[in-house]
Amino acid sequence: MNLKDINLYHIAIIMDGNGRWATNQGLERTAGHAAGEFSLSRSIDWALNNNLQWLTVYAFSTENWSRSKDEVDFLMFFNRDILIRRREEFNDKGVRFHFIGDLEDNRIPDENKFLMNETEQLTKNNKKLNLVFAFNYGSRKEIHDAYSKLNKNSIDQLDEESFRANLLLPEMPDPDLLIRTAGEMRVSNFLLYQLSYTELMFVDTLWPDFDEKELDSAVDEFQNRVRKYGNA
Ligand code: IPE
Ligand code: IPE
Ligand code: MG
Repeated sequence: MNLKDINLYHIAIIMDGNGRWATNQGLERTAGHAAGEFSLSRSIDWALNNNLQWLTVYAFSTENWSRSKDEVDFLMFFNRDILIRRREEFNDKGVRFHFIGDLEDNRIPDENKFLMNETEQLTKNNKKLNLVFAFNYGSRKEIHDAYSKLNKNSIDQLDEESFRANLLLPEMPDPDLLIRTAGEMRVSNFLLYQLSYTELMFVDTLWPDFDEKELDSAVDEFQNRVRKYGNA
């Protein structure tokens, strides 16, 4: 399918439920994060096969530091390990990587910072799919930082366009569709500004069980939605 034909350019995903998936299997929570890699790579391949332009995934929130040290350490390790193991494959497939979040935070290991930067550089000429990792991302911080970057004069003439230019990835279009797995019906500090007119979908499936069939049915559901943007 060519998703452009149905005006579906950008899908954002809150990949939730890894911990519950692992607990259900009698495993450590971290095994759920590891299992989630397959859902992520399935989703990227699905996006490539269906001509999606932008896929944004929530990998680590500014609030996730409150988890146990072991889990946070694993997530830092895992996020760099995925890049090391998989970036060449996705580079060859035409994927351009972007990372949004507070990437300067001194709690992020230097090796992660280096790999994220290197991966953006490595893939910067790719055109098939923009893949955005929200990493140490929090929407309130993004908005506060955008506001603090404005100088006093520009505040007088502030409009949507000039404000957006200060967001973390100004060229990223707003998501057309947000999918959150694992049944929670909240946005958990994800893209609060950008989701203003996004179609929201919540599915009970836990992230490690999420697959192409679920994405196809999200597209079916999306086609049944009428986007009105305030019109009658
Ligand atoms: C999402 O799964 C992954 C991250 C937040 C990094 P969770 O780890 O939140 O899984 P649950 O919600 O505890 O099941
Ligand atoms: C949101 O999931 C963050 C990510 C998926 C990375 P959480 O599991 O952290 O969200 P809450 O705590 O249920 O709101
Ligand atoms: Mg969760």
